[in-house]
Amino acid sequence: MRVSLLPLLASATPIFAAAGDGDWATAYSKAKTALAKLSTANKVTMVTGMGWEKGPCVGNIAAIAAIGFPELCLQDGPLGVRYAQQVTVFPAGIMAGSTWDTSLMYARGYALGSESKALGVHVQLGPVGGPLGKIPEGGRNWEGFSNDPYLSGVGMANTINGMQAAGVQACAKHYIGNEQELNRNTQSANFDDRSIHELYLWPFAEAVKANVSSVMCSYNKIHSTWSCESETMLDLLKEELDFQGYIVSDWGAQHTTAGSANAGMDMAMPGDNFGDNKFLWGSALTSAVSSNQVSASRLDDMVTRILASWYLVGQDSGYPTVKGWSSWNGGKGGPNVQGDHKTVARAIARDGIVLLKNEGGALPLNKPASLAVVGYDAVTNPQGANGCVDRKCDNGTLAMGWGSGTAEFPYLIAPLDAIKAQVTKDGTTLTTSTSDTPSAGAAAASSAATAIVFLNSDSGEGYITVEGNAGDRNNLDPWHHGNDLVAAVAAVNKKTIVVVHSVGPLILESILASPNVVAVVWAGIPGQESGNGLVDILYGSTSPSGKLPYTIAKATADYGTAVSASDDPYTEGLFIDYRHFDQKAIAPRYEFGFGLSYTTFSYSNLTISALSTAAGSTAMAPGGQVGLYDIVATVSVTITNNGTVAGAEVPQLYIGLPSSAPSTPAKQLRGFDKLSLAAGASGTSTFKLRRKDLSYWDTTSKSWKVPTGAFSVMVGASSRDIRVTGTLQ
Ligand code: NOJ
Repeated sequence: MRVSLLPLLASATPIFAAAGDGDWATAYSKAKTALAKLSTANKVTMVTGMGWEKGPCVGNIAAIAAIGFPELCLQDGPLGVRYAQQVTVFPAGIMAGSTWDTSLMYARGYALGSESKALGVHVQLGPVGGPLGKIPEGGRNWEGFSNDPYLSGVGMANTINGMQAAGVQACAKHYIGNEQELNRNTQSANFDDRSIHELYLWPFAEAVKANVSSVMCSYNKIHSTWSCESETMLDLLKEELDFQGYIVSDWGAQHTTAGSANAGMDMAMPGDNFGDNKFLWGSALTSAVSSNQVSASRLDDMVTRILASWYLVGQDSGYPTVKGWSSWNGGKGGPNVQGDHKTVARAIARDGIVLLKNEGGALPLNKPASLAVVGYDAVTNPQGANGCVDRKCDNGTLAMGWGSGTAEFPYLIAPLDAIKAQVTKDGTTLTTSTSDTPSAGAAAASSAATAIVFLNSDSGEGYITVEGNAGDRNNLDPWHHGNDLVAAVAAVNKKTIVVVHSVGPLILESILASPNVVAVVWAGIPGQESGNGLVDILYGSTSPSGKLPYTIAKATADYGTAVSASDDPYTEGLFIDYRHFDQKAIAPRYEFGFGLSYTTFSYSNLTISALSTAAGSTAMAPGGQVGLYDIVATVSVTITNNGTVAGAEVPQLYIGLPSSAPSTPAKQLRGFDKLSLAAGASGTSTFKLRRKDLSYWDTTSKSWKVPTGAFSVMVGASSRDIRVTGTLQ
């Protein structure tokens, strides 16, 4: 399927874009024909990485001439092609999540996949469904879409469909329970079966349903067994979800030869353990097969899965090869693959912005006579946008976190760059202070009509420590004493606007305590088009339409989850983020799903169909039992833009299960839509509920069960701003 991006941007897509071509039967039949031509040595070659830095990509599989199988390139990452030059750096997953816009998620995936393909990358290592983000400080949460499994699942499915339609194999990672960076190589995730199914497995189930070609098993343990050796967890994918593709180890996450093979791992990466030249597969796997520690049929299964995935996305004909560039030479020399993808990047950098506070119409700005721009986060890192390797610093504006989920900026439009262009047009007098020094900020702001203070908060992968944060964040305060900077500016400027670039929630109480902070703009992790997307919102060429993909609490302890040095018992069970705030009746500062607009919307005409009582088919297909995904009810609502400017609203459908279900969160997101409406216009959102959306995981029968009784239907503008309610039965 070849589609151009522009129609996708203009028209609404269903919440789960149609799964890609997904013809596994044809792919398997080709794979089996090819398998018959391979020797055991060939087969072992196909499942064992060549070794760290032994090929141009972060992971490489040697070519197998007998069947025309090329040297396979596996490359990070979830927001752009890592290390290569002249690629697009998209907003991070968390900002795609905060758009709640499935068209943009798909368009981003398609553009990512197109760039990978043009560079000869066969397997792009993303998107991220784990960490899910149960711990607000978790270092890699920004790589994924949301800590709500439904929103994350929608992000996964649409991204994968886009990527694979463009021709690259997607890799859903990190499976599973890698919720923090501290001790990620040793910690055991001791979660219960129900939490696994209803929270952590959910986004991966959507990925499998979208025909993802590969899944990456994670570094951590699960109930004391390494993730890549946990037959229980790998069976969930291959048996319960009918996953047809292959399971690749995270880099160095393999620990044994036979244990990993027999548990169901299919590809070892990077082969050795980061250059130690010790291969747990390779010749060791050949011996294990000849001594029957690993069956020949298991090896055949690994190879068949890898080949089938390669055929599935059509990489067997006319696929580009990696030419001229390598991860290890600064990525120079490859083709410029950016095309017009900056349009998609800018749309997400704009529509993912969440307006948290806007008193007295402080925003949008309308040709202010004077403006102060304050904070280090307003400008590009003085060492250059790519000045710190793998973004190992928090210098200048934050547009991506750090670690393997990074890419090299082709350019970075910092906030001040874009604001300067606008003030020139408007004839506004601009003063600036581009440090985080409070007294300098106050001096710049004291005589300006409006002051904008830029703050950030960074995190990343645990192999890097930045300003004392070893991957996970040490706290939920703005970095560089941002609260002091805001206090100093707000003390001298009555119209102080705070813009935040953050990997996740921050505690904003100190900032909000100042009456002079009239607006707060949550500008996410926006990638290369940061400033342009921001100016679109600040100056109102577009109304803000992003919604929080997590809760912003009043106090860190309110989340009820934290980074832990020992094994994690997951005692919170199902109650993470808004599920927990609801359970404990804690008032959040800004709840999950919250976001303001420059216009207002009303909700009316809630219509709820009857619940189908038909039994679902138990036939299997990727995603699991086919019947789980039947539409069993529909809910619709009319949304009216009753304000004076155009805008987009995200009506959200939350479901409360009947009391016959065992203890379940009071409400859970089970649908959403994004409607663009001119002032005065109305539109209808229709939510299609699938059997799984109305089920809980029954740990006794080990199956999804639709509980008997009446379901509460809640549709609103956020998880706490429910506008219309009804029942479904
Ligand atoms: C380890 C990271 O966890 C993973 O996300 C990445 O894809 C690999 N390294 C390869 O860089």
